Amino acid sequence: MMDKKKTISGFSKLSKRGKIKWLVDNFFKDPEGVARELKSYWHGDEAQQKILDGFSENTISNFPMPFGVAPNFKINDGTYCVPMVTEESSVVAAASAAAKFWLDRGGFRTEIIDTLKIGQVSFIWEGEFEKLEKHFPELEIQLRKNAADITANMEKRGGGIRKIELINLSKLESNCYQLKGSFETCDSMGANFINSVLESFGQTIQSFVATHSAFSEREKNLTVVMCILSNYTPDCTVKATVECPIENLGNFPNGMNAAAFAEKFALAVRIATIDPFRATTHNKGIFNGIDAVVLATGNDFRAIEACGHTYAARDGQYRSLSSCEVKDGMFKFWLEIPLALGTVGGLTKLHPIAKRSLEMLGNPGAREFMQITAAVGLAQNFAALRSLVTTGIQQGHMKMHLTNILNHFKATEKEEKAAITHFEKETISFNAVRTFLEKSRGQAINLSV
Ligand code: MEV
Repeated sequence: MMDKKKTISGFSKLSKRGKIKWLVDNFFKDPEGVARELKSYWHGDEAQQKILDGFSENTISNFPMPFGVAPNFKINDGTYCVPMVTEESSVVAAASAAAKFWLDRGGFRTEIIDTLKIGQVSFIWEGEFEKLEKHFPELEIQLRKNAADITANMEKRGGGIRKIELINLSKLESNCYQLKGSFETCDSMGANFINSVLESFGQTIQSFVATHSAFSEREKNLTVVMCILSNYTPDCTVKATVECPIENLGNFPNGMNAAAFAEKFALAVRIATIDPFRATTHNKGIFNGIDAVVLATGNDFRAIEACGHTYAARDGQYRSLSSCEVKDGMFKFWLEIPLALGTVGGLTKLHPIAKRSLEMLGNPGAREFMQITAAVGLAQNFAALRSLVTTGIQQGHMKMHLTNILNHFKATEKEEKAAITHFEKETISFNAVRTFLEKSRGQAINLSV
């Protein structure tokens, strides 16, 4: 049965305090405590809070996430300190360790493969497709002309519409067709630009068939279903590579030498190439790094993830996004990934910390930023696989997670120091930390897990 107390109309019109009051009164056991806690995360500076509130709706507070940096990234001829926002312990440490590892081994080499973005106008039309195809060159002129007001500025910056194609989907969905546009959006991610151009395309194609003498009465009616960019951008791609002589890889824990490491590492990548279960986790590790940079710079991490996963399945099976080769005494590891990123527009300059993140990177253009982000993805993947094929992931991960467990048990600074020393040689687990603290406190801990 619906609980009427838990529904409301006009919520969005309430003040922020009003929203919190309704929320805590109806959904929490300690309304005053929760209200106090939510308000404690409001920004001290009202103007800054207004900016944050402008990004979303029905805001009641801010959701803090750790903002970290991974220094020592040598990428081509540049050296970067990379901003990363993530809630997962050991991600930033792993990226930093991989950056440092490759710093002395030639760093990361990156290259842009292409920067094209895609948009589609899907429409339903009960007409003769060949006729539309025949008159497409005329239509294309109209499409470009009618969108000229929108494209003028982008063209001045070197971008604009690169290609328009007519796609026939009618064998899969009757009377269904698309206009597929390819766009260069320079330093912007370009969603607003592309969507505006596509909406103009939608209007143009409707009036084209309605007014052109080639089309019969029945063919004058065309229904635009939707005009929207595609987040799948297989031609907006970047490649990042690390490479060194096998013997320069050094030695690894448990007496593993460089050659054995290189072989086992390459095997791990091959397993992620043939098995979708492993590939998903492998690629998740890549996105641990990429998402953190994307978030820190106010870019759209959902778009980047969606695209990357589609790209990983481009031959019909979901596979590793990275590849590895051990050949002629060389270890080579690379990542090829589509990254439709922007360094202007969207939140990039509006979000105060995103703006600082980009400044930290030297205010790169989109092409440079794509290369930095791909290098971080590769570094993250390298660090994860290095742990997996040597010590196992838990050793490093639990070390980082120890602080979270100690915080959960409200450990004092003294207890924290003692625990860090104790767990240098012991296996870390939630229960092991609880037992350690209970022993040192001489009493049981009654916190629920
Ligand atoms: C954990 O967030 C990421 C890893 O599982 C990635 C991987 O398995 O390659 C460690």
